Amino acid sequence: MTKKFYLETHGCQMNVHDSEKASFALSGIDYEMTQDPVDADLILLNTCMVREKAARKVFSRISEIKSRYRKNSKKSGLPLFGVMGCVAQSEAERIFEKSRDVKLVLGTQAISKLPELMGQLEQGFSRAIDVRLSKDADFFELKAESRQTRHSAYLTITEGCNKFCSFCIVPFTRGRERSRPADSIVGEARDLAVQGFKEIYLLGQNVNSYGLSGKYHSNALNGLELEEGGEQITFARLLERVARESGIPRIKFTTSYPRDFDEEIVRVIDDHENLCEWIHLPVQSGSNRMLRAMRRGYSRQEYMLKIEAIRRARKEMAITGDIIIGFPGETEDDFNETLSLAAEVEYDGLYIFNYSPRPKTPAAAFTDSVPDSVKTERFQKLQELQDRIQSRRFARFVGRIEEVLVEGKSARSDSDFTGHTRSNLIVNFPADQDMLGKIAKVKILQAKHHSLYGELI
Ligand code: SAH
Ligand code: F3S
Repeated sequence: MTKKFYLETHGCQMNVHDSEKASFALSGIDYEMTQDPVDADLILLNTCMVREKAARKVFSRISEIKSRYRKNSKKSGLPLFGVMGCVAQSEAERIFEKSRDVKLVLGTQAISKLPELMGQLEQGFSRAIDVRLSKDADFFELKAESRQTRHSAYLTITEGCNKFCSFCIVPFTRGRERSRPADSIVGEARDLAVQGFKEIYLLGQNVNSYGLSGKYHSNALNGLELEEGGEQITFARLLERVARESGIPRIKFTTSYPRDFDEEIVRVIDDHENLCEWIHLPVQSGSNRMLRAMRRGYSRQEYMLKIEAIRRARKEMAITGDIIIGFPGETEDDFNETLSLAAEVEYDGLYIFNYSPRPKTPAAAFTDSVPDSVKTERFQKLQELQDRIQSRRFARFVGRIEEVLVEGKSARSDSDFTGHTRSNLIVNFPADQDMLGKIAKVKILQAKHHSLYGELI
């Protein structure tokens, strides 16, 4: 009999994509997805801990689901609880000690082992765990026809990270950086095009470090490693191949790491119609002192050179970024440097995070010196500046006609649909169901705080 699983995802696109891979792995052993935990035989929590104190959240979520299950489920006993994602990777066996309900712990490189681990539990083992990290781990191959999204798809090109920024847990939860062979990426992109997908997001912690695996902070081509069955190519060459060979109308990628970003990438985007004009280039701070303490591997001036190269492109690019507020030792002067950088770049979108120490990272040993109240104050100040910049930036779209992928109904209104521009801004507009999945021309009528509003033409 078909069993049911319920899967809850918290975190970035990479986590969303991992959940998609886990669902696919479970469908292979006769599990089908349910939206209600009360119906489920297996409950999986996929949780990120890059910025949040997520471990505690996992356990409180488990008790919430458990009590709802006890009250409402017709089934006897409890479902099987499993934890995956960074929390699983980082807490490992300790999860079993902290919660007797959890029977399955699935590390970030173990998604393909899901059927095997479920098999162990069915055979009567009381617990199953795989948290191995290997620098040679294979990439999970997801079938294009088993996607959970319809029009826009995520596609992994690199996993892990070798940069070891002092605040960041990713190298510890996702392991060493690995680049997926180009043929396999291009093959999956082609399959997605055949299935009717209009857009792909190439995903990686640092997509543009593609092919540089093994080289710390290297920009040099001679650091390229030869992948088995793959080619020795840079990110720019990979982009070119995907653009030429995939047949996908819109190609986006995230995240770009500033130090490994070069003008060749801009040139390739300019040369190919289906490469979209959006670059996510997190800076983290505008102060050189902070950038050094963060071990980011570039200065403010070097970052600005990359921004200038992007602004020189023939296409009008949108640039978005990430900034951390209140890193240990951040003074008012350092923060003012961050404000001035944000004003200089004029981001089309900015994700601001309050610094929080993460286990195992070097910065966790520093005193978390900026009080929460100061972090909040600085956060608001930067957010206000960004809001002003953003309304000015968004205003330039009013009156223009933008290409929008019609992705679904808007959450706010019954008659409106929603989608993204090529520059990755959200647009809402009235439309009919039959427009779903099409790339539509939308005239922008209004710029709102975080989105645009328009009409189909
Ligand atoms: N590879 C990307 C970042 C991946 S982590 C890069 O090079 O920038 C995603 C974002 O989470 C980071 O850009 C950073 O802004 C934020 N972040 C990571 N660790 C954090 C921490 N300890 N506290 C606050 N924000 C953090
Ligand atoms: Fe994290 Fe720095 Fe890598 S922010 S993901 S260690 S580039």
